[in-house]
Amino acid sequence: MKLFDVYPLNDITIARASGSYLWDNNGQQYLDMYGGHAVISIGHTHPHYVQRITEQLNQIGFYSNSIKIPIQQQLAEKLGQVSGKESYQLFLCNSGAEANENAIKLASFHTGRKKVIAFSKAFHGRTSLAVAATDNAAIVAPVNETGNIIFLPFNDGAALKACFDENQDSIAAVIIEAIQGVGGINIADHEFLRLIRQLCDQYGAVCIADEVQCGYGRSGKFYAFDHSGVEADIYTMAKGMGNGFPIGGIAIAPHIKPRHGMLGTTFGGNHLACTAGLAVLEVIEKEGLVKHAQVMGVYLIEILKKVPGLRNVRGVGLMIGFNMPEDFKELRKVLLNEYRIFTGEAKPDIIRLLPALNISKTDVDLFANAMQTILNKVSN
Ligand SMILES: Cc1ncc(COP(=O)(O)O)c(C=O)c1O
Repeated sequence: MKLFDVYPLNDITIARASGSYLWDNNGQQYLDMYGGHAVISIGHTHPHYVQRITEQLNQIGFYSNSIKIPIQQQLAEKLGQVSGKESYQLFLCNSGAEANENAIKLASFHTGRKKVIAFSKAFHGRTSLAVAATDNAAIVAPVNETGNIIFLPFNDGAALKACFDENQDSIAAVIIEAIQGVGGINIADHEFLRLIRQLCDQYGAVCIADEVQCGYGRSGKFYAFDHSGVEADIYTMAKGMGNGFPIGGIAIAPHIKPRHGMLGTTFGGNHLACTAGLAVLEVIEKEGLVKHAQVMGVYLIEILKKVPGLRNVRGVGLMIGFNMPEDFKELRKVLLNEYRIFTGEAKPDIIRLLPALNISKTDVDLFANAMQTILNKVSN
């Protein structure tokens, strides 16, 4: 059987990894400024993480949600504590799309309404509601098309107000990435996030923060929405949550009440996934990684702003983007093929940096030096 060919691939096979480094099957070393798409939060093969998961696997890997799984409660408590949202409730699933799917569904159950506001350049995943709320027609199949999603321009308060005025009590939810990832590192104004909060309160809609990429400490606060000083009703999370182990979740404000059967999953919250999730939070807490992400982010952005030719350097914490020089769109390829550095991209010409939250200053300097060397050569 062949693989279903949906990914354009780099001709590289990674054989092992440690911290912010990867090695291919020829022993070639790479610096990971991409974190496997913002997934590697505590560094590859972190010893605490490996030990925790190994021990758990020797005990039990999985049993169904029909029995008590105390490690789910331990994870919920640790998440509440580390994120500062102790009164929220946790529902566990397996991926980012699933987290958003459940969040939108829950908002609809809670309000009894159908309409959802999403924003230009949003990416919320590939399942039915998540992809319908994603601003990319190429990945929306005919069956996913729905009149229930209203797209508005990002950061446009007047358009948001007008939409609420017009639709009043039919809006179930607003879903937003406080920092858009796939869309190209676009940062929501704090004022805009506060307006969403205010209008959701006024009209009884649910405010959903999609923190799948920008959350879990990446922005220098636990949730990127936290920078606005107001809270969302639901935070969705996945990527950094398991450091590569598939796990997703939604943190739900206390006023949204559960009932049996409302949401459910076979694999979500299994013993192994919760162990991975707990190990990640323990490391984030013990190593002070939220603060570290903030400090490293400020440091790297400052350096990148001085690199000749880079355009529109922006970001928060370790979620950083810039446009490649107009006349040097090969930059990302040169970084990979000549300097052995993995980066992310956003079409058409943006490089995204999403390294592990515990990347060292030495490795940040190594990346910055490579950028300076390449672009000094180009500009001379
Ligand atoms: C903001 C955001 N939401 C949702 C998703 C979907 O997550 P997953 O691929 O785990 O389904 C992604 C993935 O890139 C994302 O960046």
